[in-house]
Amino acid sequence: MFRADITAAPSIGGRRSNRAHTIVSTLWKEQAQDMAQTKPRVFSGIQPTGGTHIGNYLGAIRNWVDQQDMYDNIFCIVDLHAITVPYEAGDLLERKMDMAKILLASGIDPERSILFMQSDVREHSELAWILGTQAMFGELRRMTQFKEKSGGQESVSVGLFGYPVLQAADIILYDAEKVPVGEDQKQHIELTRDITIRFNANFGETFVVPEPDIKKVGARVMSLDDPFSKMSKSNPNEGSRVELRDTPSQISKKIRRAVTDSGSEVRYDENEKPAVSNLINIYSLFARISVSEVEERYAGKGYGDFKKDLAEIVVEGLRPIQERITELDESPDEVYRLIDEGRQRAEAIARPKMERVRHVTGLTFTNS
Ligand code: AMP
Ligand code: TRP
Repeated sequence: MFRADITAAPSIGGRRSNRAHTIVSTLWKEQAQDMAQTKPRVFSGIQPTGGTHIGNYLGAIRNWVDQQDMYDNIFCIVDLHAITVPYEAGDLLERKMDMAKILLASGIDPERSILFMQSDVREHSELAWILGTQAMFGELRRMTQFKEKSGGQESVSVGLFGYPVLQAADIILYDAEKVPVGEDQKQHIELTRDITIRFNANFGETFVVPEPDIKKVGARVMSLDDPFSKMSKSNPNEGSRVELRDTPSQISKKIRRAVTDSGSEVRYDENEKPAVSNLINIYSLFARISVSEVEERYAGKGYGDFKKDLAEIVVEGLRPIQERITELDESPDEVYRLIDEGRQRAEAIARPKMERVRHVTGLTFTNS
């Protein structure tokens, strides 16, 4: 209802502005478009941090790809989030390009989804500032990700502290209804909802209140060296994760060395066999079969056979993506072009929405 569509004119208090009143045909076109656009909108983001792993892929990227036809999709490479921790400028550029290739190679289809760089659409920063006035110090201080990343230090950037506010801006700028993410982002989406509800209460219904879309399976892929911590880029042990750019021999080696539990049965039991259960999960996701089918396949067989096959399944699952990445490595201009197209389409939604926000907050100052 509040969605800012490409043709939408700025509206005042829910009614159209005078400018729009005079253009009756525009109004009609808008209504027609509102009705045609029945698919719910999803928005999600991923940081260009490098070392993208199968946790990111199975927990987020692949779900985005699988659901592309069901939704009106917007996916964003969140470079402004990535600069909240120390970094090198040249490095960031490379990581942004890398992430764009990974997403395209994984099947994000620019025909069906808007894919763009966060900092290219200036409205994200502008809205984040305004939302920062609605977010409370106390609620940001409680964010688990902030506590983890800051490690209780005083010398931590204001950017890192405000990270979830920028994330809220990303999502509501597009009136997204659903936010497909891994389990670790649940708290940020809940905070987004709280901030949005508060904004709407203070300034009138302006934004859609989004919901998280967290899958039961795959939302938490665990580390290969420790089944109690999630697979993560920040783990100094590279053997703890399979990265999307790993070679087949690296993948096989990492899986061969993955920790297992006592006993020898390939059985799913998160309490007694957390490590094996994680590997079964990865198997079932890549093979797209159920956990019990995996158990049946390996009844009477040991960890050795299971791990050998798992390595093969992961290698084969990543192969087509890796082949497309190699192709894109050869055509960076095409990647720039697609991302710039994404920027234009994102801007066409973000601009009018931000005009409305400026209006309801009393920031618009004009006599026209
Ligand atoms: P990040 O790389 O932290 O920006 O995460 C990108 C996406 O991957 C987010 O939706 C995360 O929730 C998801 N994600 C990250 N690590 C994992 C993991 N170990 N298991 C499942 N999903 C993950
Ligand atoms: N904070 C998210 C992560 O670490 C990335 C992100 C930024 C995001 N903006 C977003 C995810 C908006 C979903 C929606 O994974």
